[in-house]
Amino acid sequence: MSDQKTILDQMRNAQIQDTYIHPDDLAWVPFPGAPGIDMKVLRVSSESGTWTVLFQCTAGSGFPRHLHLGAGEYLMISGEMEVRGGAKAGGITAVAGDYGYEPTGMIHDWTNFVSDSVFFFTNHGPIQFMDDDDNIVGVLDWQGILAIDASAPAPV
Ligand SMILES: [Fe+2]
Repeated sequence: MSDQKTILDQMRNAQIQDTYIHPDDLAWVPFPGAPGIDMKVLRVSSESGTWTVLFQCTAGSGFPRHLHLGAGEYLMISGEMEVRGGAKAGGITAVAGDYGYEPTGMIHDWTNFVSDSVFFFTNHGPIQFMDDDDNIVGVLDWQGILAIDASAPAPV
């Protein structure tokens, strides 16, 4: 490649920014309302409201009932996650290597972890948490993710 082309590429790339995260450098942060679940925040977008995290979930932990106000995507890295009761109840059982897409408007009751699990997760907007009577108990958006992340201990 010519020096001129390299310079032009650098000029163009300087106007945008790519992201590189080494998760081992980040501390796990407790995910509120879900004992046994921690996360590492990889990226948050104030423009699109998308947030991307790594979740670590102990066996027996789970996310309470929620409504996706933005679509979610996940990739299981290890462990086993049961969505909507798992495959035995007509839902999904996701294991290492599995990818899932959760459309906007999807309601998930108890999403539980059968074994210690780690998964990559992106949500394209907020998640609304509800009780069994559909009363809203909280809405988690990109700003909430940043606030939780700010409570993380400094990396060592
Ligand atoms: Fe969900």
